[in-house]
Amino acid sequence: MRTLRDIDQLRSTLREHRQRGQRIALVPTMGNLHAGHLALVACARQHADIVVSSLFVNPMQFGPGEDLDGYPRTFSADQSQLTEAGCDVLFAPAVSALYPNGLDAQTRVHVPVVGKGLCGGSRPGHFDGVSTVVSMLFNLVQPDVACFGEKDYQQLAVIRKLVRDLHMPIEIIGVPIVRATDGLALSSRNGYLSVEERATAPALYRTLCMLRDALERGAAIDESLDQGKAALSEAGFTPDYLELRDASLASVSPATRHAVILAAAKLGPARLIDNITVQLPASE
Ligand code: PAJ
Repeated sequence: MRTLRDIDQLRSTLREHRQRGQRIALVPTMGNLHAGHLALVACARQHADIVVSSLFVNPMQFGPGEDLDGYPRTFSADQSQLTEAGCDVLFAPAVSALYPNGLDAQTRVHVPVVGKGLCGGSRPGHFDGVSTVVSMLFNLVQPDVACFGEKDYQQLAVIRKLVRDLHMPIEIIGVPIVRATDGLALSSRNGYLSVEERATAPALYRTLCMLRDALERGAAIDESLDQGKAALSEAGFTPDYLELRDASLASVSPATRHAVILAAAKLGPARLIDNITVQLPASE
């Protein structure tokens, strides 16, 4: 695997592959890699000849007071994992390479509608930061296909809309959530949890499963969501949101069948997110 930090080097390397007619896949990450990220690399391998992974802790998507400085940085371990997973090119630019004029002077990409509410509500500007850096990576790499995790369900919806609206010829593939054996969705932020908090954390997924089962049996939506929030609080979480949306993140209507429950909740120093799909029954 080649590690490149320089934009010109990345472009010339990829130009050679493209001229040979090879298909290129991109897996954007912020590093501190775990099996969830590696599932994206495995997916990328299946869809392309050349797999490019980016590792960039993107300052633009962190709000004031968020964990930019403390975000786990484990570069050499990440490099070894990517090599092992069959990644061909690791692009790991410096902040000054992507934002040479600073963040304030940087052109931004804003994806309306799907970026509103949920994480976009609790983290103002977050999805503009994601959309901007991902647009930049798409322009630099010009991949045929890019893989994103369903764990960040709203982020995946934002990226799908970005690519559609800007007519980018990139196939976006969503990869199912990789979980620990106790159900907790793998996340770089799980490392912030104490031993006790880590033991509590699977209650987030258990609550989503309980809610899904209730809703699939026809339970009332609002009451079920209230019960879910109460269950999270009782387990020790501070719920941020717990919502039912249709699969494209619009509000549910009586006609909605394919839906998703999305949750974000704080547990000690970590803000955890998770989601689960639901098949709503037709009402008689
Ligand atoms: P990061 O949190 O490092 O995640 C990189 C990719 O890994 C995202 O597509 C995310 O959805 C996926 N991922 C994380 N945990 C996962 C899990 N347990 N199962 C499956 N996929 C998982 O998301 C970002 O970085 C950034 O916002 C980024 C897109 C790189 C832009 O900066």
